Parts: sequence; structure tokens; C-alpha cells
Amino acid sequence: MPQPPQTRHSEHADPHEQYNPVPRVMIGLVLALVVWAIGYIVLARPDGMAGLGDQRDPVALAPSEAGAAGAAINASQLFVAKCQACHQASGQGLPGVFPPLAGASWVTGMPEAPLQIVLHGMNGTIDVDGTTYNGAMPAFGEQMNDAEIAALMTYIRSQWGNDSAPVDAAGVQAAREASAGRTEPWNGAAELLAFLGAGAPPVVPVIKK
Ligand code: HEC
Repeated sequence: MPQPPQTRHSEHADPHEQYNPVPRVMIGLVLALVVWAIGYIVLARPDGMAGLGDQRDPVALAPSEAGAAGAAINASQLFVAKCQACHQASGQGLPGVFPPLAGASWVTGMPEAPLQIVLHGMNGTIDVDGTTYNGAMPAFGEQMNDAEIAALMTYIRSQWGNDSAPVDAAGVQAAREASAGRTEPWNGAAELLAFLGAGAPPVVPVIKK
């Protein structure tokens, strides 16, 4: 027996696009923001505000009359960037791992020793204030120019109670020339002391055998 044709009812009304205009208030707000932003970019002088960014203003960044040794070098920033991870903000290092710079006669004595260590790095053993370290200090000679190393050296020699004479760029240049051609880190204090010569340091500590 044939079935009667089925009547189908759509369950929902057919969809139709709704007209939902963006509220005028929103358009107005967005426009106002755009206008403000463009105005800000055009009118603001962010490069004149040392409070933004790394605090250096154009005056500090401009090449100074004093050349590379000018005021633009910030030794404490260099220390934070290059040395602090190991030798710590306190200059105390980490016991048994990274030797202290505070009070260390390697730092406060004749500048040639710490200069050579910073220029070329050091592996092998070094005695610092009675503790023997056997770590690896990276070389920084290629990373900084003479004026920067001089400022950094002067900084570590005058921080944390250290009170030694400043080091100038000419001293760094002389140290570079003295060890020019060297590509390896110093093999411990022994090699460095031998390089610096027997007459070298009244200041350099005893090396433990
Ligand atoms: C990756 C860690 C590390 C960094 C970064 C580092 N040092 Fe060292 N430093 C050492 C270690 C380790 C020694 C000991 C080397 C050894 O045992 O042969 C040392 C030794 C020294 C010494 C001689 C010993 C002493 O404590 O007086 C001086 C001076 C020194 N570093 C200065 C610096 C300066 C300045 C910087 C930044 C430019 C710096 N170091 C960055 C790890 C580091």
C-alpha cells in the first residue's frame, strides 16, 4: 500500500543575515584612538627622554671629545653585563667555583695580571685568597675596546672596598701588545706568572703546589 506523502516541517526558520552595524560610539572611539596615536607619534620626542629605554640620553651617546674613553662608558653596566654572572654583584664570587674580586690581590695588585686574565681568559688552577680554583674564565679581549677594559678594570679595582690605582686605555693597549698573538687562555696562574716575569708582583699571591 503506497505511503502518503510526508509533510516536512523545517524545524527552524531559514537563517538570514542580520544587520548589526558597529555602534557609532565604537567607531568614534576607534577614530579618536587612531587620531591620538598618530598625534602622539608625531608630537612625542621619545629619543629625548632618558627615562625610557636604557636611561642613556643623546648627550651620553654622542661621541665625546675625549674619544672612546669618554663619558659614554658605564663601567658598572659593563661589569653587570660581562662579569657579574660569575663573580656576583657583591664581587664575592661563588665559594669554590668563581673566585672573589673583592679583596683579591690579583685584582688589587699590579694591573697587568688581571688585565691579562680579562684579555685572554684562564683555565687551570689559580689560588685566590687561600682557595684554589680550577675553573674556566672566558676571554674578553675581543669583546671590549681598550677604553672599556680600562674602565672596567678601574671599576673592579675600586669597588667593594678595593682601593687601587685606576687603569687607563694606554695600559690596556700595552697589555694587549705584550701578549699579542696569544690565542689560548692562560693555563693557570703558573703560566701567567711566568709570563709576567719573575720580577713581577709583590702582590701576586702564593701559588699552592
Ligand atoms: C663564566 C664565568 C666568568 C665570567 C663571566 C668572568 N669570570 Fe673571571 N674568573 C672566572 C673563573 C672560573 C676564574 C678562575 C679561573 C681558573 O680557575 O683558572 C676567574 C678569575 C678571574 C680573576 C683572577 C682571580 C680573582 O678572582 O681575582 C679576575 C681578576 C677575573 N676573573 C676578572 C673578571 C672580570 C673583570 C670579568 C668580566 C669582564 C670576569 N672575570 C668574567 C669566571 C668568570
